[in-house]
Amino acid sequence: MPQAQGWSEYYDELRDRPPRSTLIAALDAFGEASVESLAIDLGCGDGRDVVEILRRGWSVVAVDAEPQALAKLAERNLPGSEKITPIVSRMEDVPLPLGLQLVNSSFAMPLCEPERFHELWARIVEALPAGGRFSGQWYGPRDGWIGRPGITFLERDAAVALLDGFDIEMFDEEEADSTTPRGKPKHWHIFHIVARKR
Ligand SMILES: C[S@@+](CC[C@H](N)C(=O)[O-])C[C@H]1O[C@@H](n2cnc3c(N)ncnc32)[C@H](O)[C@@H]1O
Repeated sequence: MPQAQGWSEYYDELRDRPPRSTLIAALDAFGEASVESLAIDLGCGDGRDVVEILRRGWSVVAVDAEPQALAKLAERNLPGSEKITPIVSRMEDVPLPLGLQLVNSSFAMPLCEPERFHELWARIVEALPAGGRFSGQWYGPRDGWIGRPGITFLERDAAVALLDGFDIEMFDEEEADSTTPRGKPKHWHIFHIVARKR
């Protein structure tokens, strides 16, 4: 994972990549957006997924701990950007807005220590109404970053257990050797998740 000063390069590297498949699946499952469609993107980076959330007609609260991320999101000058509420905050500390239907966190939610991760997940579960969705990635125990402080890794069974009370629409386990966006070799163990609250 890049250090704080390294996120800027990360954003530049991934700037033109398409939105994450977990987000696409969640948005597709909702169908047409309404004026009330409200999402939050936790650890949004420079807005790879925000672009798509807006394009589909949703409003979105865009949260990232790095001011650089939201500065780069603003530089995109997206049509409909008045529907973005940018917040510089650690996701563990951000209040979840009323009326939320989608919580998206692509490759970001594990970037907090386990106790805060579980607290945050409990808040997400509480904030979502029946029919609301979570989309994003969690890390498994064979991920190459295991042991790094400040990151949460979940056994598969523990991850599935957290989704109790949800209909699981996607739970794809990926284990692969490849490189990070910054070109460092890494073993990835990822759960790609889309889940709908019952
Ligand atoms: C791997 S990037 C993913 C960015 C984007 N969601 C994507 O899919 O490309 C992780 C992002 O999460 C942010 N981040 C890391 N820890 C965070 C935390 N505890 N709270 C909020 N943002 C965090 C980083 O600043 C970075 O922009």
